[in-house]
Amino acid sequence: MKLPDPAPLLADAPRVREVLDGAGWSAAALDELLGTTYRTHLDREESAPVLRRTAGGSPLEALARQLVLGVPASSELPASWLNRDGTAKVRLQPVVSGGVEVLVPHDAGRITDPQQVLGVGAASMTLAAATPRRTVGRTLDLGAGSGVQALLAEDHSASVVATDRNPRAASYARLAAALNGTELDCRVGNLLEPVAGERFDLVVSNPPFVISPGASYTYRDAGLAGDDVCRRLVQDLPGVLADDGVAVLLVNWLHLAGEDGDERVKGWVPPGCDAWVVQRELAAPQDYVTAWLRDTDEGERFDALYEAWMDGLDRMRVEAVAFGVVALRPGRGEVVLDEVDQAVAPTWGEEVLDHFARRDALAAGVLDRAWRLRADVRLHQVASHEDDGWYVESQLLQQSAGLRWSGGTDEHGAALLAGCDGTVPLRMLFSLLAVSAGIPDEDAVAQGLPVVQRLVEQGFLVP
Ligand SMILES: C[S@@+](CC[C@H](N)C(=O)[O-])C[C@H]1O[C@@H](n2cnc3c(N)ncnc32)[C@H](O)[C@@H]1O
Repeated sequence: MKLPDPAPLLADAPRVREVLDGAGWSAAALDELLGTTYRTHLDREESAPVLRRTAGGSPLEALARQLVLGVPASSELPASWLNRDGTAKVRLQPVVSGGVEVLVPHDAGRITDPQQVLGVGAASMTLAAATPRRTVGRTLDLGAGSGVQALLAEDHSASVVATDRNPRAASYARLAAALNGTELDCRVGNLLEPVAGERFDLVVSNPPFVISPGASYTYRDAGLAGDDVCRRLVQDLPGVLADDGVAVLLVNWLHLAGEDGDERVKGWVPPGCDAWVVQRELAAPQDYVTAWLRDTDEGERFDALYEAWMDGLDRMRVEAVAFGVVALRPGRGEVVLDEVDQAVAPTWGEEVLDHFARRDALAAGVLDRAWRLRADVRLHQVASHEDDGWYVESQLLQQSAGLRWSGGTDEHGAALLAGCDGTVPLRMLFSLLAVSAGIPDEDAVAQGLPVVQRLVEQGFLVP
């Protein structure tokens, strides 16, 4: 299938926006029309459910057929956007993250072409969810592809630079900006080359992080050995950060035989930089390779490609491949890795900034600070009924925001947390606890301090 050139579509983008608005196009309207699971049907190449729900011939149904499903229909779209058979040249995907809605243009179909520009997938949404949304000056989106991260960042940035090695991606990002009525500074080039010498307040990157042999697909493969592209980005991104800038990127890193995988990724962080590595997955090689081979349309080549890919990983003595989010900022050289297996909040970018603020507070001293219990924390108690009433058997602390950590506690821990209202220094709370438990102050501090430290690290307690 020949890929379309998105550049000639730019001139009519404002007209397309008018047509979409006139038909009542929005993420919510499409969900209502097509059903909230329509993207799952599309991913599975099941067109029947979407065809059935768009048989009425309304303007929105026609646009959904052309721009979401990719079948012919009759609509008000300008001729420059249409093929001769009445199908649209590109697809449009409405994306909502953190209450912000953007419209993302992308190539159609299964992935078969090295230069194909993809729509928004799970990894894109992982990065969007992890991006802090404070208002900033300059933002860089490295590896912008369709422009989704740049568009979302534009909502809270004075200006956004979107870079990509693939010129088709830069054309798509320009088209995305026009469709969304915004401006993006789209540049073509390798990694940080297009922004040499510049500084940014926020950097986001969903790079081609996949550890694969060769460079078959631009969206996936950087063409560097092993996890080198991720190492290079973790090492080099701090160099383009403003003094209080933050970078958030997705990375894969290798766990090799005889080597500590956690130390591998932590060792990439350059001196004078703080990092928070939030590990989300650890995949066995065969699961990693099959998942990425399923992402593209390899047909009968699947088995041969699997063999070659696994041979390459075996030669490197790969035991597992980790995936996660890395946040970086200029700092004291403190590097923290958390394994986060639990379901997290739909967006948790503020947690990145809060994490660094909590690390600063911990470094300044724990005992003399009046900590505060975070507002979303709840205490769940399980009690059994005894002769004289309810007996609490276990207590669980649970966050509903951020990374949604949970953990058990006891009556003393629960009492201490109840006292953390931001006015009483921790040292005094330990004294009160010592009195109620009948132990010396030093013992209360010795036993309680590591627990409080961890509660602060995980965000149950905040400065
Ligand atoms: C995984 S896609 C991310 C697309 C989009 N930012 C998102 O979040 O959905 C990676 C992007 O990086 C681009 N890319 C690949 N190699 C690159 C390189 N060496 N320098 C800059 N961009 C590159 C690809 O063309 C692709 O658009």
